[in-house]
Amino acid sequence: METPVASKLQDSQEIIYLDWNNALDTMEKAHRSGLFVLIIGPKGTGKTTLVRRFASQMKKELDSVNFSLRTRESHLVGSRTLEKGQINFVEGVLVKSMKAGTLLYLDELNAAEADVLLRLDEALDDRRQLVLKEAEGQVIRAADDWFVVATINPLSHVGTKELPPQLLSRFPVRMRLEYPPEQIELDIVRRHVAVEEAMVKDIKHAIQLAKNLRDAAAVEELYYSPSLRETIAFAKMLNTGMPARKVAEVVYANAYDQWGQVEYQKVMDMITSIFGDS
Ligand SMILES: Nc1ncnc2c1ncn2[C@@H]1O[C@H](COP(=O)(O)OP(=O)(O)OP(=O)(O)O)[C@@H](O)[C@H]1O
Ligand SMILES: [Mg+2]
Repeated sequence: METPVASKLQDSQEIIYLDWNNALDTMEKAHRSGLFVLIIGPKGTGKTTLVRRFASQMKKELDSVNFSLRTRESHLVGSRTLEKGQINFVEGVLVKSMKAGTLLYLDELNAAEADVLLRLDEALDDRRQLVLKEAEGQVIRAADDWFVVATINPLSHVGTKELPPQLLSRFPVRMRLEYPPEQIELDIVRRHVAVEEAMVKDIKHAIQLAKNLRDAAAVEELYYSPSLRETIAFAKMLNTGMPARKVAEVVYANAYDQWGQVEYQKVMDMITSIFGDS
């Protein structure tokens, strides 16, 4: 029997994650071996959820950094502040995580600027220490159980850069997270939404549509590849009583309108062939 969704949400400790490819086990073995992990996969394949679930199951505190071109060294390492005539050093998330031995989650690492990556490089090498030029050369040493997991989007992803080889080598355990097989995608949806039997056919259709759209995006026939988020959203909207074809339109087709009428019409045609006309 499925637990009702509402009671799952009340339990803030529980993070819904279906471990369909044994990713938690690989991560646990990497952690036990003191090796850092890199997760490679397109958006919405469960990378963040996997890491949150791992942290919760290992009872490890989680510190996250979401990288972008605007992420600065000071955010990671820390900065000096002046307060009542006194200069203080406020530790950044990297320093805090190293000292406390938390799980440091470096999300979309390949979106960061080179100078930021250089600083990480220092902390992540075998010595696991950081010299704070910002604080009189103080040396920060990482706690023994410090653990780092980074994610990168595949290079085909817009705006992503290649991870410099020396940084790549700091993460010797590499995990690929792809879109799951269709039956598993349905199981994942069931974890999030109470699915009545009558809805299963429509959800399978949505998964089929998502798969076709992903395939088309992979060969650059379409600009956008829908993720598990859309499939879950589809099931939730279907639950409100909206007809399946209409849900497919609002969750899938309309997104493509931003690339123009031709893209949109391609997706509408796919919807018609899968869901029928009405
Ligand atoms: N294996 C899974 N079990 C349960 N839920 C999942 C699973 N994989 C993905 N999800 C759900 O799919 C949605 C997207 O997952 P998540 O945010 O973890 O993906 P992501 O890979 O981190 O995406 P992004 O690259 O956009 O950050 C979430 O609602 C998450 O709960
Ligand atoms: Mg994420």
